[in-house]
Amino acid sequence: MNEFGDVLQVRDLFKEHGHGQGVVRAVDGVDLDVPAGQMLAVMGPSGCGKSTLLHLLGGLERPTDGEVWLAGRRIDTLSERALARLRRGSMGFVFQAFHLVEELSAAENVELPALLAGCSPRAARQRAAVLLERVGLADRARHLPWELSGGQRQRVAIARALANEPLVLLADEPSGNLDTAATLDVLRLFEELRSTGQTLVIVTHDERIAATADRLISMRDGMFVDDTWLADSTTERLEDLIGLEG
Ligand SMILES: Nc1ncnc2c1ncn2[C@@H]1O[C@H](COP(=O)(O)OP(=O)(O)O)[C@@H](O)[C@H]1O
Ligand SMILES: [Mg+2]
Repeated sequence: MNEFGDVLQVRDLFKEHGHGQGVVRAVDGVDLDVPAGQMLAVMGPSGCGKSTLLHLLGGLERPTDGEVWLAGRRIDTLSERALARLRRGSMGFVFQAFHLVEELSAAENVELPALLAGCSPRAARQRAAVLLERVGLADRARHLPWELSGGQRQRVAIARALANEPLVLLADEPSGNLDTAATLDVLRLFEELRSTGQTLVIVTHDERIAATADRLISMRDGMFVDDTWLADSTTERLEDLIGLEG
């Protein structure tokens, strides 16, 4: 966190893809402060730059221009090695297509980040068990990804993203491949994480996820066109949504 309580800060951020005539400005001059504990949703039409923004926030891509700060430390200028360490230790990623290792069980997938970060196998195992319990999948620990439903796979991916207690959880269309029931499971999980102080940035097309967030940013053509802080109690909104579905 910096002195203002922001865990993520972005200053005058630009990202261009391609070269010459084919250049696309995917992120076009963005400023952003994300306070610790905020659940931020980013919406916008396909191609407006949401994934690129998320990759820049998570140190998966480097900006063409501008600055990204995590917990008061500038990250866009770090070496590849330092950036990889930071992604492993301080960021959690959740993707639309889950990206689980197909040869590994649910538990092994969740153990992996802790092992990569140098945790002992025993500690990694214990941590994975706690996380799988937390996402409601303790009884699926030995299952391989293909033996799980989409919603269960995404919950394993969320458990994996939490393995190293990330400063920020970054999710790119986490419910894009999920049906309504699974989307609501993931939503409940995000809401529970938020209630424990986890900072979340979620790119989504899903109005239900957006409505649960503390703040909603709308993107168009690489720019923020709206930034609304939602006031009502998240839990009430979630109950309304589940009521509507049920
Ligand atoms: N690696 C890349 N190379 C070239 N163009 C890219 C690349 N990644 C994204 N783009 C382009 O940048 C723009 C924003 O893409 P993206 O961030 O994926 O948007 P969104 O996630 O909102 O759909 C699009 O025009 C897309 O085609
Ligand atoms: Mg995208």
